[in-house]
Amino acid sequence: MGLNAAVVSLLLALACWLQGCSVSDTPSSPDTVGDAGESRRGSFLVIGDWGWDPNAHGNIKSTHCQQLVADVMHEQMEKLGDVQFIVNVGDSFYPDGVRNKSDPQWDEKWRQIYSPLVRSVPWYSVYGNHDLHADPCACSEDADACAQVNADITNLDYFYMPDTSFYQVLPELDTEVIILDTNYLMWLNMTCPHTPCPELCSANLKKRAFKAFELFQERIARSTARNWVVASHYPTDYFPGAWNTSEPIKPWTPSWVRMGASEWPSGFPEFLSAISNASRSSITYFGGHRHNVDQRTVFNTTPHSNWLSGGGGGWSTDGEEQGFVLGEILDGGQVRTSAIIVNFTDCLQAVDVVV
Ligand SMILES: *[C@@H]1O[C@H](CO)[C@@H](O)[C@H](O)[C@H]1NC(C)=O
Ligand SMILES: *[C@@H]1O[C@H](CO)[C@@H](O)[C@H](O)[C@H]1NC(C)=O
Ligand SMILES: *[C@@H]1O[C@H](CO)[C@@H](O)[C@H](O)[C@H]1NC(C)=O
Ligand SMILES: *[C@@H]1O[C@H](CO)[C@@H](O)[C@H](O)[C@H]1NC(C)=O
Ligand SMILES: *[C@@H]1O[C@H](CO)[C@@H](O)[C@H](O)[C@H]1NC(C)=O
Repeated sequence: MGLNAAVVSLLLALACWLQGCSVSDTPSSPDTVGDAGESRRGSFLVIGDWGWDPNAHGNIKSTHCQQLVADVMHEQMEKLGDVQFIVNVGDSFYPDGVRNKSDPQWDEKWRQIYSPLVRSVPWYSVYGNHDLHADPCACSEDADACAQVNADITNLDYFYMPDTSFYQVLPELDTEVIILDTNYLMWLNMTCPHTPCPELCSANLKKRAFKAFELFQERIARSTARNWVVASHYPTDYFPGAWNTSEPIKPWTPSWVRMGASEWPSGFPEFLSAISNASRSSITYFGGHRHNVDQRTVFNTTPHSNWLSGGGGGWSTDGEEQGFVLGEILDGGQVRTSAIIVNFTDCLQAVDVVV
């Protein structure tokens, strides 16, 4: 960070503190109680679509919006004191993903942007479509070939992703995190043609989508956690039951609309009812792909809650609500969520050196 950037960050931090960065309640301090008097067991942050490529933006070597969001995450983590994990809904590395575990993008686009504090907890991550283009993951059947896959939760030099879809039980938080790779069903023909192996990619993504929904069905049948935190790269409005299938087909129409129902995994058409299930205590769902943070554009999963959380300050920053979501896990089986939105004017300000 240059001197200019440091000064601007300081001013932003001050502005945030004076005006508040949050669109809803300012998050409480670690031992504060919830609305109904429950105490908080811990918290988490959700971010997505933070991938930014300085080289693809002319000669402006700025990562400004991504950095601004990263700095506000740091401030929030200091303030909260009990953030246990980050959910990262993908499109982390623009434009084509990382090629291996020593790809310099890990440093340039992740480790040097998010503070050691922000990276001191596991980042439960999923592949977004962009992440797959150049990653050996697309062309290999073996998930161990995937450059983002890392099954060692104590190795914080990488994301935590033991497989392309996975679950994590957190007994002390009464929470289960379920991460699903749905790229095949949502964005197939906008992903695989960008890889060196379009047909093999398609076959691999198909297997992964089937595994994802098998896992989801198994976990909802077996999990005894009161809180489920579910995520994939795509928001709820992309799923069957939400997307208007009578609309003319556009390039961005989800792939499943063009497939026969026989090509859908079991459990996929029922996904939105499953995450709206009133007989469960608490289900929160997060997806990105569109570059904004809001609940206005997603399908309503009442009595539960879901977010578009793709405003991580990355590529094109085309939504005006850039930032992340805070989840507070309360005693009594409830998760309270709120958006932390940064100042959009500041977000777009390129303050770094133009070379
Ligand atoms: C890893 O990827 C980078 C970026 O493409 C490349 O320069 C490097 O040679 C690769 N390293 C290995 C060990 O394959
Ligand atoms: C779905 O799309 C069709 C075609 O554009 C339109 O006529 C219809 O009103 C839409 N339905 C809903 C529920 O929005
Ligand atoms: C993807 O593209 C292939 C080749 O153009 C086409 O046959 C197929 O129907 C497309 N599938 C989807 C789901 O769009
Ligand atoms: C809702 O949850 C209950 C209890 O776990 C289960 O029996 C039921 O099948 C679920 N319904 C849906 C639509 O997932
Ligand atoms: C956002 O930042 C701009 C420029 O720094 C400032 O003029 C504006 O008042 C800020 N907006 C809010 C809502 O704080």
